[in-house]
Amino acid sequence: MARILTGIQSSGVPHLGNLLGAIVPAIELSKDANNESLFFIADMHSLTTIRDANLLKENTFATAAAWLAFGFNTNDNLFYRQSDIPEVSELMWYLNCVTPYPMLANAHSFKDKSSKLHHVNAGLFTYPVLMAADILLYDAEIVPVGKDQKQHLEMTRDMAKAFNHTYGETLIEPESRIDERVMIIPGTDGQKMSKSYDNFINIFLPDKKLRKQIMGIQTDSTPMEDPKEPSTCNVFKIYKLLATDKQISEMEVNYKSGNYGYGHAKQALYEVIIDKYEQERARFNKFMGNTELIEIELQKGAKKARLIAQNVLSRVRTKIGY
Ligand code: ADP
Ligand code: TRP
Repeated sequence: MARILTGIQSSGVPHLGNLLGAIVPAIELSKDANNESLFFIADMHSLTTIRDANLLKENTFATAAAWLAFGFNTNDNLFYRQSDIPEVSELMWYLNCVTPYPMLANAHSFKDKSSKLHHVNAGLFTYPVLMAADILLYDAEIVPVGKDQKQHLEMTRDMAKAFNHTYGETLIEPESRIDERVMIIPGTDGQKMSKSYDNFINIFLPDKKLRKQIMGIQTDSTPMEDPKEPSTCNVFKIYKLLATDKQISEMEVNYKSGNYGYGHAKQALYEVIIDKYEQERARFNKFMGNTELIEIELQKGAKKARLIAQNVLSRVRTKIGY
């Protein structure tokens, strides 16, 4: 049985890019009976940038609601909130004390983030140590992450090595699993869908607002009557990711034969989303309408996670000499 662990930064309601690029594939991976998945919401990492208590809370709920709405099985796996596990801060301190300062000072992501900010807090600097503690605290073996997190994983392995070198074999060196063939979901303007470009589709919006977002997808000015090229159209690119093969070939024929406007295509995309995600949207609303239900799930996960964490931490404390 392999223990898979990954952290999810909570930056609001997950968009279609987050869902298809990260959430759905992770849930698929967790269905393999040979794996045990630990997925957590990295709300302590969020504190390096978010200063609003309500926003921090809301972001956690919206992120958790999306994972639950898409059917993450919290009975066979663990789903929890980082800040519910105080053990992580303790392990972080021990790791801080075996981590060379230059390793952190030279990290790409620190250099990149700190060069763009007026006020650089120490949390941003020690971000990779908290991330290493997140992983090492659970004896995680496999950590699926995007390419941007690769260096953080290497640093985690280095910290585990440094600790083991000083105190003897204690921590498991995790393997990263970088998904090189990540599917990039295009946004409403054709660039990568991202919160930072404001080009996202939020499938959890109420019908009218969702339709408005879809009607806002950028298209060219080919007149209604003229034939159109599906492969370069932003509407078709998104439709292709969601519709059935039959629906896709029908739309292709419509594009090529003319007398089919982008408005028609957008309406078809809207209908596919409503239809395909009917259950997920209903479940998301149920959770967001009663965040107590989310809280129950997260507390259940925290209870199981703390058992593992306390075990590993006691091994560490003994080695250190406490
Ligand atoms: P954003 O760019 O909206 O801020 P994040 O960087 O927080 O999104 O990404 C969270 C997760 O969703 C990551 O695993 C990332 O790889 C995935 N993801 C984000 N946008 C896309 C996209 N357009 N296509 C595929 N995956 C995406
Ligand atoms: N830093 C990761 C990101 O921005 C989130 C994260 C926090 C994480 N702790 C982790 C990912 C532990 C994997 C393992 O995406």
